[in-house]
Amino acid sequence: MFNRDCRDCPRLATFLDTIKTKHSDYFAAPVPAFGDEHPTLLIIGLAPGMHGANRTGRPFTGDYAGVLLYQTLFELGLASAPTSDSADDNLILHGVRITNAVKCLPPQNKPEISEIKNCTPYLKQEIDALASTCKLLALGKIAHDAILRAYELKLSAFPFSHAAAHCLPDGRKLFDSYHCSRYNTQTRRLTASMFYNIVKQAST
Ligand code: URA
Repeated sequence: MFNRDCRDCPRLATFLDTIKTKHSDYFAAPVPAFGDEHPTLLIIGLAPGMHGANRTGRPFTGDYAGVLLYQTLFELGLASAPTSDSADDNLILHGVRITNAVKCLPPQNKPEISEIKNCTPYLKQEIDALASTCKLLALGKIAHDAILRAYELKLSAFPFSHAAAHCLPDGRKLFDSYHCSRYNTQTRRLTASMFYNIVKQAST
């Protein structure tokens, strides 16, 4: 089960300890999933951002990475408001749950492969708890690969590509999107309409 006191990754645990001393008001702990308890779509990001999820305790909340995500969910009728500002803003997601492949903030937003693997059992538990018809949407290749690891699948059997739809062995569908990061949106690698289309496809 999700463990707020997890210290399985020494580098990440000590990094969070340091942040907690600098920013005593920051969440600075493994960030739990957010949204519908019985979703029809699970969205999987990479890891909490320093001043976003790591500060607020809710995935994609409080920094730029969540702007397009929550706006798009709202446009599709999947969120009660277009922004997610804090963990106590009363935002409700309809049929959607959001989590991260790695639950703790990694230095430079780059988890090591061992850290991704350490966190896989938590992702696997989240996936196992879903209805068999629930779809998955990976935001970026790291999330995509983490899902394949949770399923113990060969990464080469399901290559990541934006807007790809993969059929997983248990019948679930895995959709891929470029990550909705500031870098990807500002360089227009991922446009608002590209993102809208893939979230719509994954949620209907
Ligand atoms: N914030 C998150 O919670 N996840 C990401 O992947 C990026 C920012």
